Amino acid sequence: MTRTIYYVASTLDGFIADQHHSLDWLLTQDVDEHGPMNYGEFIGQVGAVLMGAATYEWIVQHQAAAGEGWMYTQPSWVFTHRDLAAMDGADIRFTSAPVTAVHAEAVKAANGKNLFVVGGGDLAGQFADAGLLDEVMVSYAPVTLGAGAPLLPRRLDLRLRETARNAAFVAARYDVDR
Ligand SMILES: NC(=O)c1ccc[n+]([C@@H]2O[C@H](COP(=O)([O-])OP(=O)(O)OC[C@H]3O[C@@H](n4cnc5c(N)ncnc54)[C@H](OP(=O)(O)O)[C@@H]3O)[C@@H](O)[C@H]2O)c1
Repeated sequence: MTRTIYYVASTLDGFIADQHHSLDWLLTQDVDEHGPMNYGEFIGQVGAVLMGAATYEWIVQHQAAAGEGWMYTQPSWVFTHRDLAAMDGADIRFTSAPVTAVHAEAVKAANGKNLFVVGGGDLAGQFADAGLLDEVMVSYAPVTLGAGAPLLPRRLDLRLRETARNAAFVAARYDVDR
């Protein structure tokens, strides 16, 4: 059964990027690619990808700087009110349709696999508002920023299902309590 999962890395004080959309605090951390709750295992179960425009723009810039292309093979939806350009070879739909309609389309496209909500936090919150967010998987980096893009700016009750250490990170998996 398809689950809608917000899989994300956060600072200890609940930010997923700094005030300038930098992830330097994250990309310098030790991670075990084969360790608990690793990205490879997670993405293998993903059938469609959903993200906001700032996240998309960060990916485009970061991949271009690294000389690399779009990294998702899954159909992807980018929420925006602007006319953004798709990266070459990327299967992307830009949308400002209601999250419920996009979710229904993405579930169909995922064909039984999970939906990956990449971020930001408010977009994950919009899915939660609509009762469509099933799970939150957070890897907490050993750093605080004091300010930045929030992890999940909503009042939500979650149930802790699993915790593990992955190198520098504390990884936690929560079910969203509806
Ligand atoms: N640490 C991590 O694992 C992680 C994961 C993901 C992202 N990030 C970073 O976190 C930051 C997130 O940025 P952010 O908080 O600004 O969030 P975001 O969701 O990436 O971008 C927000 C933008 O998305 C568009 N949007 C959101 N909801 C929409 C809707 N319902 N309909 C149409 N458009 C919608 C709007 O763009 P328009 O102005 O174009 O309308 C909005 O300004 C980025 O720097 C990203 O790189 C970190």
